[in-house]
Amino acid sequence: MAGLLGQLGLEVPIIQAPMAGTSTPAMAASVSNTGALGSIAVGAVDAAAARTMIAAVRARTSRPFNVNVFCHSPARADSERERDWLRFLGPQFERYGGAPPRELREIYTSFVADEAMQALLLESRPGAVSCHFGLPSAHTIARMKAAGIVVLATATSLDEARQAQAAGADAVVAQGYEAGGHRGVFDPVAHDTQLSTLALTRILVSGIALPVIAAGGIMDGAGIAAALRLGATAVQLGTAFIACPESGADQYHRAALFGPGAAMTEMTRVISGRPARCLPNRFTALQRLAAGPLIVPDYPIAYDAGKALAAAARAAGEGGFGAHWAGQGAPLARALPAAELVRILCAEMSGAFAEG
Ligand SMILES: Cc1cc2nc3c(=O)[nH]c(=O)nc-3n(C[C@H](O)[C@H](O)[C@H](O)COP(=O)(O)O)c2cc1C
Repeated sequence: MAGLLGQLGLEVPIIQAPMAGTSTPAMAASVSNTGALGSIAVGAVDAAAARTMIAAVRARTSRPFNVNVFCHSPARADSERERDWLRFLGPQFERYGGAPPRELREIYTSFVADEAMQALLLESRPGAVSCHFGLPSAHTIARMKAAGIVVLATATSLDEARQAQAAGADAVVAQGYEAGGHRGVFDPVAHDTQLSTLALTRILVSGIALPVIAAGGIMDGAGIAAALRLGATAVQLGTAFIACPESGADQYHRAALFGPGAAMTEMTRVISGRPARCLPNRFTALQRLAAGPLIVPDYPIAYDAGKALAAAARAAGEGGFGAHWAGQGAPLARALPAAELVRILCAEMSGAFAEG
């Protein structure tokens, strides 16, 4: 098979989205074994943990898989903003008998500055590396490509896609506003044009020379066929895989996915400091409790507080403060083993194409 799919060794044009904390080596391997592309996300872990995850995928498959990294620009620490934020969250900690952290840390190192992670990926050479929240330098991208790695970059606008193309990426993941999880926007405080998957896919297919991978709100074969008809070379699905038994999603995330809130996902910064689409829960509801607009610390400093609050609440039996990321397609989620889900998606897609 020629082009991107051939480069990635794919038999079907489906990528299981990298989902930090939710996608697992078992899920990635299971998906890759079907001929689609499985992904793990290492944005929330260090190089040593990433090495273990890569080995765990390789123990289960010899097929290509994708490793996803976060390329955010460094957070700007602001002690006053962080103190105010902890004060705002204080009553929630108190309610669940937990103590807020004394100070907040930048909990994730950006791949851009993480030399150990760059060295690991160059050494372990996964089939693909995908970048979220921005881009590594053109030099780092060139080194990965020279090592035989296919480099994918998330873009939410034509401008970001053009930057990815100029930096040397092999393909662009067109992430629409429908998508679950963090928006891949390069600059989280710039105006967000909130393009839908449909519009963004068409804009990128006609605006850049790279293959486009459509992502956001795609949950079944009809959605996949529609995205391919729009000119996408492949699709990337995240929410569709949350309920798989191989997923790392906890009981609260799974329950929320199949609850009444599935049809009411919301974009929020309160959990991590960056806009992310989430199932409604006690954490997202805080936006409405605030007297005025919330001034949230930078990502991932705010996420340090968010994770501490989720842990304190969970210890008291309350699961409603988790990062329950999901896209607008959540009501269409199915709880199936990952490989079976891919097979069903392929059958549905063939059916949709056969119908014309
Ligand atoms: C639970 C969850 C976690 C996610 N984590 C990541 C991540 O770590 N890295 C990344 O590039 N994208 C992440 N995403 C976004 C996906 O890559 C993709 O853009 C999105 O899932 C597509 O929309 P959909 O969820 O409607 O299929 C995540 C999405 C979800 C639902």
